[in-house]
Amino acid sequence: MIITVASFKGGVGKTTTALHLATYFQNKAATLLVDGDLNRSALDWSTRGSLPFKVVDEKQAVKYARQYEHIVIDTPARPNTEELKTIAEGCDLLVLPTSPDALAMGATLQMVDFLGTLDTNYRILITLIPPHPSRVGEEAKAAIERAGLPIFKSGIRRLAVFQRAALEGIPVNAVKGDAYSGIAWRCYYEVGQEILP
Ligand SMILES: Nc1ncnc2c1ncn2[C@@H]1O[C@H](COP(=O)(O)OP(=O)(O)OP(=O)(O)O)[C@@H](O)[C@H]1O
Ligand SMILES: [Mg+2]
Repeated sequence: MIITVASFKGGVGKTTTALHLATYFQNKAATLLVDGDLNRSALDWSTRGSLPFKVVDEKQAVKYARQYEHIVIDTPARPNTEELKTIAEGCDLLVLPTSPDALAMGATLQMVDFLGTLDTNYRILITLIPPHPSRVGEEAKAAIERAGLPIFKSGIRRLAVFQRAALEGIPVNAVKGDAYSGIAWRCYYEVGQEILP
């Protein structure tokens, strides 16, 4: 299965999502994470610490792809429409992370408009959901559902342990001594279950 993670807006959790979906899929079968971002954030993550799967850049991807059952591709923010067409049509599932704020939601709806013209299978994932009593996460989900767009049932909570995991170069489920690592991992685990139980 090829899963690509993309968004028009930067900083909405693409790399974090790609990395944790790869962690999930690696538990099923050999998984490759392709870092398609020139900033190389996924590759940096893997060199800071250690990840339970292989990470390569786009150029190496062709060479390695055959040896892996699942491939997760991280992409840079702000793809142009031509790039997005290539990205969207070259995968089995396109995951669109969006934070629940108006700016990111607007960028996602703009992307969805364009994707509607293509032959692609996509699903929106709400990320960076602030804690209660804020209800912006639920509100964003409801708005997307009202619009009849495909969305993951589970969302990703905004938790500092995700930043800690990035800093340590490991997935959240490997972070030690943080009471939230299990809760954070469960967010992505549930998304993984929705893709491939
Ligand atoms: N669920 C979360 N809770 C808290 N912080 C998060 C969460 N997801 C991502 N972050 C943090 O937010 C920042 C942006 O996340 P990330 O790098 O995954 O986004 P991105 O969409 O890949 O960004 P870019 O567009 O720059 O590639 C990082 O510092 C990351 O650690
Ligand atoms: Mg990124």
